[in-house]
This record gives sequence, C-alpha cells and structure tokens, in this order.
Amino acid sequence: MRKSRVIVGATALVMSSLYKPVTAASYNLVKEYAGKTFFDDWTFYDHFDNLTNGDTIFVSANVAASAKLAYVDPGSNRAIIKVDNTSNVPFNEKRNTVRISTKDRYALGSVWVADMFHLPYGCSVWPAWWSQAPAWPQGGEIDTLEGVNLMTNNRMGLHTLPGCNVEGAKQVNSSKTLSTDCSHDTNNNEGCIVTDSDTTSYGEGFGKAGGGVFVTEFAETGISIWFFKRANVPQSITAGGKSIDTSTLGTPTGNWPSTGCDMNKFFEPQNLIFDITLCGDFAGPDNIFSATCSGKCYPDHVVGNGSNYATAYFEVGSVRVFGNVLSSGNDTGSGGNSSMGEISSGGGKNGGSSMIYAGLWSWALGLSVVALLV
Ligand SMILES: *[C@@H]1O[C@H](CO)[C@@H](O)[C@H](O)[C@H]1NC(C)=O
Ligand SMILES: *[C@@H]1O[C@H](CO)[C@@H](O)[C@H](O)[C@H]1NC(C)=O
Ligand SMILES: *[C@@H]1O[C@H](CO)[C@@H](O)[C@H](O)[C@H]1NC(C)=O
Ligand SMILES: *[C@@H]1O[C@H](CO)[C@@H](O)[C@H](O)[C@H]1NC(C)=O
Ligand SMILES: *[C@@H]1O[C@H](CO)[C@@H](O)[C@H](O)[C@H]1NC(C)=O
Ligand SMILES: *[C@@H]1O[C@H](CO)[C@@H](O)[C@H](O)[C@H]1NC(C)=O
Repeated sequence: MRKSRVIVGATALVMSSLYKPVTAASYNLVKEYAGKTFFDDWTFYDHFDNLTNGDTIFVSANVAASAKLAYVDPGSNRAIIKVDNTSNVPFNEKRNTVRISTKDRYALGSVWVADMFHLPYGCSVWPAWWSQAPAWPQGGEIDTLEGVNLMTNNRMGLHTLPGCNVEGAKQVNSSKTLSTDCSHDTNNNEGCIVTDSDTTSYGEGFGKAGGGVFVTEFAETGISIWFFKRANVPQSITAGGKSIDTSTLGTPTGNWPSTGCDMNKFFEPQNLIFDITLCGDFAGPDNIFSATCSGKCYPDHVVGNGSNYATAYFEVGSVRVFGNVLSSGNDTGSGGNSSMGEISSGGGKNGGSSMIYAGLWSWALGLSVVALLV
C-alpha cells in the first residue's frame, strides 16, 4: 500500500468527511532546487535534439556553465536556463540550448512547485516544464507548462498508454479542455490538453506580470495543476514552508481525476524536466509558425546572430518538491527517505537506465491542428 500523503488534522477530517472523499492533503518537503546549488542535481542532455527535431544542441553541464546558458544569477540568486543568443549560427547548423532532467524521480503522492519570473518565448522558441517516467509512454507524462512561438496561453496535458481519459474534471471554468483522451495512440498523441485562458500564464505576459508559480499535484486521486500569477500566489507558498496543503489552493487550473484514469496503472515515478528547443515538430511547421510569427522558422530565426533570442530564457526562483522521492539509480522500488512514505513498488524498474525523452517528440506531431485553436 502506498502511504505518501500525510493527512493534516486527521481527526477533524474523519469527522467531517464520512460521506465525502477526503481531499485535504499535506505533503512534506523532500527536495529544493534553488540558489547557488540549483543545478547540482540535474542531468544535462548533452546531445543534439534527437527527440523533437528542434534545430538545437542541448549542451553539457560544462558548456552550459561556461557559455552561461545555465547559471545562477548572482544578483537575484535565480537560475537562468537559456538559448544561446550571442553566437552567429551559419545555415545548416544548430543553436545551443539546454535540457535538464532531475536525477531524482518523484512518485505518486508528490507535489512540485516551480516559482518563476520569466518564461522563454519568441518566434521559433518552444519551452516546456514537464515530467515523464524513463519508460514512455507506459510511465506517463505530465506537461505543466508548454507553448510555442508567440502563443499567449499555457497548455497543460497528460500523455499515457490507452485507457486514461478525463472524466469529471473539477477545474476553473475559465480553463478550456481541448481533448479528453490521454492516450498516445489517439490523434497522433495529442494528449488530454487543457489551456489556461489567462495570458499571464505564458509568453511575454508571464514576465510582465512578475511571473508566477506552477503547482503540480501527482496524487492517487488524480493530477492537478494550479497556476498563480505573482499577484495571486498564496501566502502559504510565498512563505516557503516545509509542507504544502493542496486543499488550501482552491480549484485547480487543470484537473485530470483518477475517475477516468487509474494513476497507479498509467503513471510511474517522474523525472522533472526543463527544456527549450527551437522549431522542431511543434514550433516549426508552417501552419503553426505562421499563426503567430512571420517568415520561416529555421532560416529566419535560428540562423544568424541570435538577436531573436534575448527573451528565450527561464528565470527560476526555485523548484520545491513535496511528498515522495525515489533516488535515481534505485531499481528496487524502495529508495528515498523512508520517513516520506512508501515508494511505488511498480515504478522503479527503469530507475537506473538512461532516460528516454520520447514524450514531446511524438505527441507534438499531432498537435498542429489543436495549436491553431488556442
Ligand atoms: C538520442 O541520442 C542519444 C545519444 O546518442 C541516444 O542515446 C538516444 O537513443 C537518442 N534518442 C533517440 C530518440 O534517437
Ligand atoms: C462554473 O460552472 C459551473 C457549472 O456550469 C457553475 O455551477 C459555477 O457557478 C461556475 N463557477 C463560476 C465561478 O463561475
Ligand atoms: C542581428 O541580425 C538581425 C537580423 O538579421 C539584424 O537586424 C541585427 O542588426 C543584427 N544585430 C547585430 C548586432 O549585428
Ligand atoms: C542575450 O539575452 C540576454 C537576456 O537573456 C540579454 O540581456 C542580452 O542583451 C542578449 N544579448 C544580445 C547580444 O542580444
Ligand atoms: C535503493 O534504496 C535503498 C534504501 O534506501 C538503498 O539501501 C539502496 O542502496 C538503494 N540502491 C541504489 C542502487 O541506490
Ligand atoms: C533525504 O532527506 C534529506 C534531508 O531531509 C535530503 O538531504 C536527502 O536528499 C533525501 N534523500 C533522498 C534520497 O531524497
């Protein structure tokens, strides 16, 4: 049995919840990526983008540090993850950028909170803050933040094996559900996608509003994502405490309940990922590109002096993870801190293998039509 959630005020909850599901759940802090040590526990992809066909090279940790593509700004103490905007890239060559994935994996019963001040945007730019299990699609994928080019709204979603559907989602009315079948087999891996109607959730609007916080809850009862623009970030999150109670956060921006998707069946412990690519399967196709940008994606943007990429960076205050850590390399299913609760016994079998970054690659192929609707 999994026992990853710590119920706060258990007695009171039992009393008040005899005839309705218990939703109040507090999770304890297990990991913080912040400040000078932000980049310590991530794997840099160190290979060209062979996953989403972007015109990019995801550089090593050494190159990222020396070229200042991944560094902690000494003034703000925030992590910068960016596209190279100072090199002249000749035609037929690729531009350097960054893709990092947490060394630790986080099991069912976890919450990750990303506090950011700027998101990458611009013509040809395709960033994501997301997660997946090493075995894809069987281990599932959760996309908390994603967009391309000059789109103005965040799109969230899941990608799974067939059988996971959205039923009875309880999310804010302003969010729009674009698709409810999460299967990678449906509509060329479109996924079950929800768009945020708030234009501060992505692109230039995000930074202009002072950034904000994305909360992703990966729970037995389902997956929920909250977006709070800076002005609306709850005090409980700003305070940066050692636990988080998702029942205090209000109605989520996106919700994928277990009603139509057995979380134990479709999800394994997740690696959290930041990446920025250019053009590729989602940002590049003419029909998508021309919806918000002019010219051609690769020759008119990637090629040249890089002046197009001054806004193509993440500025991250912190990523804080609560709940259920599974150490990388631990293939017994029993890793992590025992005080954090038991670890998913089905999720660890690929823990030591190199990661398969297949998630976005295949689903992006199917998104061209949907992207135009956003
Ligand atoms: C991408 O390149 C890496 C490094 O060569 C390799 O291990 C991986 O299998 C490749 N992935 C794909 C999808 O081709
Ligand atoms: C959201 O929609 C539901 C169902 O249509 C409605 O009952 C509820 O009042 C709406 N909530 C808000 C905040 O508009
Ligand atoms: C960089 O290239 C752009 C587009 O070709 C051009 O407008 C700009 O002047 C160039 N900047 C520099 C510093 O050369
Ligand atoms: C590169 O981008 C940074 C912001 O990430 C900006 O401050 C800088 O001016 C840009 N450099 C050039 C040459 O455009
Ligand atoms: C897996 O976790 C267990 C329990 O914490 C630990 O004893 C073991 O060394 C770990 N294995 C690896 C390969 O890290
Ligand atoms: C266990 O917890 C300690 C302190 O709380 C932390 O430093 C360590 O990284 C955790 N170990 C794992 C495997 O998460």
